[in-house]
Amino acid sequence: MEEVTHILAIETSCDETAAAVVHDGRSLLSSVVASQMEMHARYGGVYPEVASRQHVLTILPVVEETLHKARLSLADVDAIAVTQGPGLAGSLVVGMNAAKGLVLGTGKPLVGVNHLEGHIYAAWLHEASQPTPPAPDFPLLALLASGGHTELDLMTGHLNYRRLGATNDDAAGEAFDKTARLLGLAYPGGPAIQKAAEEGDSQAFKFTRPKAEAEFDFSFSGLKTAVLYLVRNLEKNGQPIPVNDIAASFQRAVVDYLINQTVAAARAHKAKNLLLAGGVSANLSLRQAFLNLQNDGFTVHIPPFAYCTDNAAMIAAAGHQRFVGGYLSNLGMDVLPTWPITRASEQYLQK
Ligand code: KG4
Ligand code: ZN
Repeated sequence: MEEVTHILAIETSCDETAAAVVHDGRSLLSSVVASQMEMHARYGGVYPEVASRQHVLTILPVVEETLHKARLSLADVDAIAVTQGPGLAGSLVVGMNAAKGLVLGTGKPLVGVNHLEGHIYAAWLHEASQPTPPAPDFPLLALLASGGHTELDLMTGHLNYRRLGATNDDAAGEAFDKTARLLGLAYPGGPAIQKAAEEGDSQAFKFTRPKAEAEFDFSFSGLKTAVLYLVRNLEKNGQPIPVNDIAASFQRAVVDYLINQTVAAARAHKAKNLLLAGGVSANLSLRQAFLNLQNDGFTVHIPPFAYCTDNAAMIAAAGHQRFVGGYLSNLGMDVLPTWPITRASEQYLQK
């Protein structure tokens, strides 16, 4: 039998200061996320300098709280995983230096983890109090839709990614955020659009389906511009802005587009297993549409709702795979603010 493994993970790539402990790569013992959302809301987006200074203040209490909740001490942990990139350099540095400090103090192994890989491994997580669901099987097609990335990655095994398509311009989450701003809705835009859409008619406006450069690529900037022109025209004619109807129609267009591209790529590459990941996977309409693909013969995996947006549990889940695979980092590692998932295996000093 495999030995029990406890991974302590730290995540500070953007505006959440997070730490978590995961047992055997899947079973979540504790997860703490200190969100800075309210601090950034007044700027309408993440203010990098404010984010890194807040991480400095919060990181150690968050690590202490997660260990306390897991009823473990640092000595019980088998390895320390930390988000190495991609993300905001000044934010990543805080988590990385905290992890290096813990490693220096304890002599535990250090594992740098790709944040996007973390989002994908969120689908392996479950609460420790719940029975273990079946693990995702390969070949698997992952739709990764976050605030900074939107791509389709084919996995033929653990830690192995082939990018089949990606956005040519905005990420899906960014499109939600920018469109929300156009509609006068609060930051972050994804949850705000979802909420407005609940009261709106998704058939009220037809947005033409975007066209991207390559077959499985995405493009979101046209959709955002279509909303801009619609709002401008209504304003010019002195008409009220039907915010809820526009939000619902926009959300439907994005969801249909994400689903259609995923299904096309999955069929072309004979992947029967689908996985949804990234902050946009918190969207209820997208989650439902993805689940409905089970009726078309796909096996579908969606992370638990709480682990869709940024958290450290997902970094622990991915860190576990790296650790047991022998991918270790050392104290000389640097942050990688633009690290693509397709190169996620290249940064390790031992393997
Ligand atoms: O993965 P994430 O937490 O951070 C990045 O790594 O980028 O994703 C954040 C993005 C934001 O753009 C946010 O608006 C979007 O995820 N998001 C949503 C929802 N919740 C968060 N988009 C649509 N519907 C949601 N419910
Ligand atoms: Zn993220």
